[in-house]
Amino acid sequence: MIDDTPEASQDLSALLDDVRRHLLWQEEAAGRVLMIDAKAALELQRSAPSLRARFARTQGAADAAPPARPEAPLPRPPLASQAPEPRSIGPERPGPVAPAVAAGLPGHGVAAPARVPPTSRPAGALPGAANGERPTLDEIRRELGDCQRCKLCSTRKNLVFGSGNPRAELVFVGEGPGEHEDLQGVPFVGAAGDLLTKMIGAMGYRRDDVYICNVVKCRPPGNRNPEPEEVAACEPFLRAQLVAIQPKVVVALGKFAAQTLLRDSTPITRLRGNWRTYEGIQLMPTFHPAYLLRSPAEKRKAWEDLQAVMKVLGKQPGSRA
Ligand code: URA
Repeated sequence: MIDDTPEASQDLSALLDDVRRHLLWQEEAAGRVLMIDAKAALELQRSAPSLRARFARTQGAADAAPPARPEAPLPRPPLASQAPEPRSIGPERPGPVAPAVAAGLPGHGVAAPARVPPTSRPAGALPGAANGERPTLDEIRRELGDCQRCKLCSTRKNLVFGSGNPRAELVFVGEGPGEHEDLQGVPFVGAAGDLLTKMIGAMGYRRDDVYICNVVKCRPPGNRNPEPEEVAACEPFLRAQLVAIQPKVVVALGKFAAQTLLRDSTPITRLRGNWRTYEGIQLMPTFHPAYLLRSPAEKRKAWEDLQAVMKVLGKQPGSRA
C-alpha cells in the first residue's frame, strides 16, 4: 500500500534530492553520463501526489542549484583593454587582465552531450553564457572538448579542467597547470599542489570537499606566464565553472587568478587578505602556493587569509594544520 501522507512525501522528496546530488557527484567524479531509471522515477512520482510537482521541478532543473544559494549572475565578458604582463606567480609585478572575448564561443567538434536537455541556447554557445541558465561542469567540459582555442593546445599533454566537489562551498583558483598537472590532467599535483593540499587540510577540509581549477587549462610551455590571448580564450570557461558550482567563497591563488577574476591590476601584495566580491561570491585573494614555497616567511600571511575564509565558512582548523 502506498503511503501518500505529507510526511512520507517530504521524506521521499528529500531522498530524491539526496540521490540526485549523489548521482551528480558521481557523474562529475567518474565522468560518466547520469542514467536515470525513468520507470522507477515514474513509479516514485505516482506514489505520492505532492511528489509530482517536486519531481517536475527536479526534472526541469536537473542541473539547477541546490535551493539554499541564489542563482549567480552570468559570467561577464572580460574587459576590452588591459595591459599584458609577463608571468610571475610571485607578488612582485602588477598583473594582466584578458582582452575582450565573446562569452559565447563556437564549439570545437564536441559531440552533443546525450543527457543535456534541449535548450534555446544557440548551437555551440558556452553553457551558462546564454539565457541565464546554470550549466553543469560536465557540460562545460564537453564544450571545451579537445580545445584548440589558443596555441597552448599545441604543446599540452593534457587539458587540466579542474577537480573536486562540483557543489563545493569553497573553490581555489590557480594560474595554470605546471609539468605534473599537464602529465596527469589534474590541477595542483606537483610541489605547489602538495602545499595547497596541506593548506586545505589545515582549513578542516579534504581535497575532495573543495573544487580546484586554474585560469588557463593548458600548461604554458616552460611554465611561462599565460599570455593575454590565452587567458582570454580560457577565462569564460573559468567563469562558467564558477556559475556551475556557485561556491560561497572563492580563494584566488596568486595574482593571475585574483587580477583576472577581479579585473583589477592591483599587485597581489595589496589585494591579498582583503575580501572582494566576484559576481556576488565572496573572494579572498592570497599568495600562490608556489610563491609560498619560494618565500616561506609569507606563509603566515596566507594562513591569516585562509583563517578569514574559515571564519566565514564556519570551519575549525583541521588535523593537518
Ligand atoms: N600552479 C597552478 O597555478 N596551478 C596548478 O594546477 C599547478 C601549479
